[in-house]
Amino acid sequence: MISIKYFFHQASSTISYVVFDEASREAMIIDSALDYSAHSGKLWTDFADQQIAYIKQNKLRLEWILETHAHADHISAAHYVKSKQGGKIAAGAGIKQVQTTFIKFFNLSPEEHASDGSQFDRLFEDNDSFLLGDKTVKVISTPGHTNDSVTYLIKDNAFVGDTLFMPDAGTARCDFPGGSANVLFDSIKKLHDLPAHTMLWMCHDYQPEGRELKFQCTVEQSRAHNIHVHNLVEREDFVRLRESRDETLDIPQLLYPSVQLNISAGQLPKKQSNGMRYTKQPLSFSGEIL
Ligand SMILES: [Fe+2]
Repeated sequence: MISIKYFFHQASSTISYVVFDEASREAMIIDSALDYSAHSGKLWTDFADQQIAYIKQNKLRLEWILETHAHADHISAAHYVKSKQGGKIAAGAGIKQVQTTFIKFFNLSPEEHASDGSQFDRLFEDNDSFLLGDKTVKVISTPGHTNDSVTYLIKDNAFVGDTLFMPDAGTARCDFPGGSANVLFDSIKKLHDLPAHTMLWMCHDYQPEGRELKFQCTVEQSRAHNIHVHNLVEREDFVRLRESRDETLDIPQLLYPSVQLNISAGQLPKKQSNGMRYTKQPLSFSGEIL
């Protein structure tokens, strides 16, 4: 048997999971988060500490700290969790492309940031697998929202990241660098081709129209009811809908700090000569400003 415990990070509407094999007590965390205040730059660890406490209380051995993708709305706690509990940090191999994109965007030097994925202990290709106890976890590459997005499948449970939202919320944006509505359609088809009873576990729920928190549904429910991409939706219609919605969206509030830290698995930038750490914030303007 496996056990799945969810943790809801209210500030970013993120659902993070601790999954463990009951026999061996081997555990994995999926998409952990640091707490962060954008205006002060302050980071703290209450949320991740709840998960660490849960691991200790249940006498689990943390084997894996997994990312479904480089998040743009919260900062990963992977590096912090590893420093406290051990475990291997892993993500999809597409993270190297994400690193290349954002290293260029933030004009980081090779000394400031490597683009070879070396900040992670393992990078997964499509169809890679690993063991949690005697249970196989299969990694399914599901790009589209980002080009490093992956889904982790253990028994009949798929942790889908932002490749799907709950049926009443539809799908995530595809307008980040490397994102593609067309590619997302194919990734969702892969998930919808899993057995109908497979449980899909979401990474976010924004509680549309104030409904209660929901973060899991079956493949059958998603196929039948997802408002953007149910069974009867054609590819062209989905791409048109997704792209037109994306045109109306502002960038996520925490995009810049999130991606700068998440391409390093949540490792903080090096201290500068004054002992401080910084993230960069690009400026853009129109008109004549000197
Ligand atoms: Fe995301």
